[in-house]
Amino acid sequence: MSDKLFIFDTTLRDGEQVPGCQLNTVEKIQVAKALEALGVDIIEAGFPVSSPGDFNSVIEISKAVTWPTICALTRAVEKDIEVAAQALQFAKRKRIHTGIGTSDAHIVYKFKSNREEILERAVACVKYARRFVDDVEFYAEDAGRTDNEYLARVVEAVIKAGATVVNIPDTTGYCLPDEYGRKIKFLVDNVPNIDRAILSTHCHNDLGMATANTMAGVLNGARQVEVTINGIGERAGNTSLEEVAMICKCHSDIHIETNINTQKIYPVSRLVSSLMNMPVQPNKAIVGRNAFAHSSGIHQDGVLKNVQTYEIIDPHDVGIDDNAIVLTARSGRAALKNRLEVLGVSMDNGKLDKVYEEFLKLADKKKDINDDDILLLAGADRSQNHRIKLDYLQVTSGVGVRSVASIGVSITGEKFEAAASGNGPVDAAIKALKKIINRHMVLKEFTIQAISKGSDDMGKVHMQVEYDGHVYYGFGANTDIIAASVEAYIDCINKFKEVE
Ligand code: KIV
Ligand code: ZN
Repeated sequence: MSDKLFIFDTTLRDGEQVPGCQLNTVEKIQVAKALEALGVDIIEAGFPVSSPGDFNSVIEISKAVTWPTICALTRAVEKDIEVAAQALQFAKRKRIHTGIGTSDAHIVYKFKSNREEILERAVACVKYARRFVDDVEFYAEDAGRTDNEYLARVVEAVIKAGATVVNIPDTTGYCLPDEYGRKIKFLVDNVPNIDRAILSTHCHNDLGMATANTMAGVLNGARQVEVTINGIGERAGNTSLEEVAMICKCHSDIHIETNINTQKIYPVSRLVSSLMNMPVQPNKAIVGRNAFAHSSGIHQDGVLKNVQTYEIIDPHDVGIDDNAIVLTARSGRAALKNRLEVLGVSMDNGKLDKVYEEFLKLADKKKDINDDDILLLAGADRSQNHRIKLDYLQVTSGVGVRSVASIGVSITGEKFEAAASGNGPVDAAIKALKKIINRHMVLKEFTIQAISKGSDDMGKVHMQVEYDGHVYYGFGANTDIIAASVEAYIDCINKFKEVE
């Protein structure tokens, strides 16, 4: 008999905290529905007190999703809990996730308090949350660096106060797998009422050990894992859902089962990567572009003789479809609609017509349209509400000549034009743009990425621009890489606080 492992997805909360990865409510609903179809048990939909946007997203996700429990994060603060309860009002199944830091570093430096007072606050926040919902999860922030004896006292007390799940976060990603596993085992062995709650892992990847730590927790008795799609999350990220799901599937010897429909993993991974403008590293386990690409002669020879020689996972099991239909200029609306649905995107006919129009324009420039192009097109109206828009861009450049660019932008409908020369076409275009947007802006990071192979491919540009003490993240996609760069720069400017 296998034990069920609950999958708690925090892509929309811990994952979304990554600078530049913020989604709007419509996009969050799209991800939440894809997570539901994937089979996750709990969706952490946001931190409602943190912003009106988060509050609204929790409300709308609660309405849009049926099966998974919807969870809202709070601090150990009454106001947070009240707001979370309000945001969860439409959820069919609801959970409040409340907690406080329990390591000495948090107790002394963050709360300027002591262990006894923190224990009281932990109990109080759980009791308060139980007034609003039956399902309350408590997190002991920085549990990874919390003394085990004290942690056991906190866990026992919060379970007594009504916690149904207790989360043991390795907030800083510090623990070694053996150490984290022993921590979970210590709680299983030393908390007398542990059978009344589920222990949860929540690991960060600062030292590259998030998945290993999570699995060590599971092997020692945790029965919920907190994960994100593609392992996204602050700093080095969180444990990735796809890795844990596939470990449980491949290792039937550990007798742990999840509800994940693994064939939906790849489409959800693409959807999240595309909506969040967060590329997946090519060698990422399970969902990276190279995860199933055998390039060495010895491997290719082995795989051709028998795929089991070098492959432990059948790519089809994670939804990678070798024969994915490649769309071309001759593909009809129905083929596009079908491919979008396979990728987890549904839209009404009005939006489909607009996307199809953009699709035909792109297909004129580019022979084969792949899944990434389609996902980009599906989000093509991202800039619709932007104040500043690129009207035209003309660049001359070449070897032995200085590049010159002229640019036209509209700012809330008013037209502006400028020209500049520069050290290369992107430099010239950005200098021209800066003549119009006359601020002290510093380009901190600039990444150009072709989506797949051909010279007619869409180029994606990620940029970070510093302005007035803040760093803003921008994204652009175009078959013309210079236009994509300028779009990314404008995307950053549109996010400047005073421009919003
Ligand atoms: O990493 C962490 O400790 C968290 C908690 C708020 C659950 O994300
Ligand atoms: Zn976290």
